Amino acid sequence: MEKYVIHGGRPLHGSVEISGAKNAAVAIIPAAIMVRGVCRLENLPEISDTDTLLHTLTYMGAKVNMINRSTVELDCTHVQMDTLPEDMWVRTRKIRASYYLLGAMLGRFGRARTTMPGGCNFGVRPIDQHIKGLTALGADIRLNGGFIIAEAKDGRLKGGTVYLDKVSVGATINIMIAAATAEGRTVIENVAREPHIVDLANFLNSMGADVRGAGTDVIKIRGVKQLHGGTYTLIPDQIEAGTYMTAVAAAGGAVKIANVIPKHLECISTKLREMNVEVEEGDDYVLVRRDGPLHAVNLKTKPYPGFPTDMQPQMTAVLCCAPGVSVVTEGVWNNGRFKYVGELKKMGAQIEVEDQSAFLQGVDHLTGAVVRSCDLRAGAAMVIAGLSAQGVTTVEDIVYIERGYQDVVGKFRALGADIRCVDEPEEPADPADISAG
Ligand code: EPU
Repeated sequence: MEKYVIHGGRPLHGSVEISGAKNAAVAIIPAAIMVRGVCRLENLPEISDTDTLLHTLTYMGAKVNMINRSTVELDCTHVQMDTLPEDMWVRTRKIRASYYLLGAMLGRFGRARTTMPGGCNFGVRPIDQHIKGLTALGADIRLNGGFIIAEAKDGRLKGGTVYLDKVSVGATINIMIAAATAEGRTVIENVAREPHIVDLANFLNSMGADVRGAGTDVIKIRGVKQLHGGTYTLIPDQIEAGTYMTAVAAAGGAVKIANVIPKHLECISTKLREMNVEVEEGDDYVLVRRDGPLHAVNLKTKPYPGFPTDMQPQMTAVLCCAPGVSVVTEGVWNNGRFKYVGELKKMGAQIEVEDQSAFLQGVDHLTGAVVRSCDLRAGAAMVIAGLSAQGVTTVEDIVYIERGYQDVVGKFRALGADIRCVDEPEEPADPADISAG
């Protein structure tokens, strides 16, 4: 099983190039099903979630041509439903974004069959708002044996008005995709405003859709008959950038974080400055430097433009060593998303979780330990903690991290970190432990 082994305590120096946004890519690849013609996607991140989705499209009959590590040409002209073999559904189900196949298939074929989504393991993740939205566009949706089956009345969705009871990134995206080719006008109110929502709207528009208002809380879509091919360059990953920013805050040093949109990082930059970390913005980069002691802060995650929930574990990892008391409150996911706190405690962190908040008492330093990734961002937090800790940290279950971070070992090593990926065979089971039958 592969693990990361980190010898901590080395400040980070140099420059790191941020990859394309994972959460934009996992929406845009399924949305490409709607496109008849060649759709060239640039700045795609090279991560296992995009790989799974590209494989899924291949099984559906798309031509997938990798031009280089970050550019792919997709031709979905001849895609079909119902051609995915069972083992591919097992892979697809593992990623949360598989639910975007629902909106994309409905938009393209007027019917859909896809699995109930999986994704990061941090609690119940309902899809009632997706179903509410797609139903408002005229889809009949039912669950059958772990699959979601949807059908548009008369074979094509019809525009409608939807008010989301909960601001949901996934529901906003799914409804946008489906509405792009629905008949007539769709209005979605109380939508998410994350950068990847705007990115998806820009992608759809560059393929001939008419989507307006993305980035505000109301999106209006005039359905078009079909989407045509084109070229689209994805935005850089806000959360990957934030993760490297927090790594510098934790380990110390000075790093240029390149290929970013500084505006998307504003709330992270502001919080880091409160923590005594210098952040200087350029046109497409931020310079992050930390050489003094950290300051304790309180933070609460919120939908964009609030502090991103996907930066909560990484920020907690940094605050473990900020003298004083910090309070980190989760405002997006009802279950707190704090499973990883037990792992940080193994490294000497002093944290207590109560309801939706983690209360941290800053310690002098963390100490290396064997820890696991509880989910993608929790895994990133373990790497950050390991980089700042004294001694050796082993991070297990890195498969989560590789779902969403491109070449995390190579990028950190280039900044001077001592991190390696080792592949140790699992301990053979003791024959005495294997009971007959
Ligand atoms: N919610 C509902 N009903 C729904 C949908 C969501 O009640 O139908 C609730 C959720 O339970 C949660 C809140 O609404 O409390 C927000 O959920 P949202 O739908 O916005 O989350 P998501 O679309 O499932 C995406 C990202 C997550 C990120 C959240 C919030 C993708 C593939 N995933 O998930 O990213 O945490 O938005 O920003 O885009 C990650 O990248 O590590 C990750 C988990």
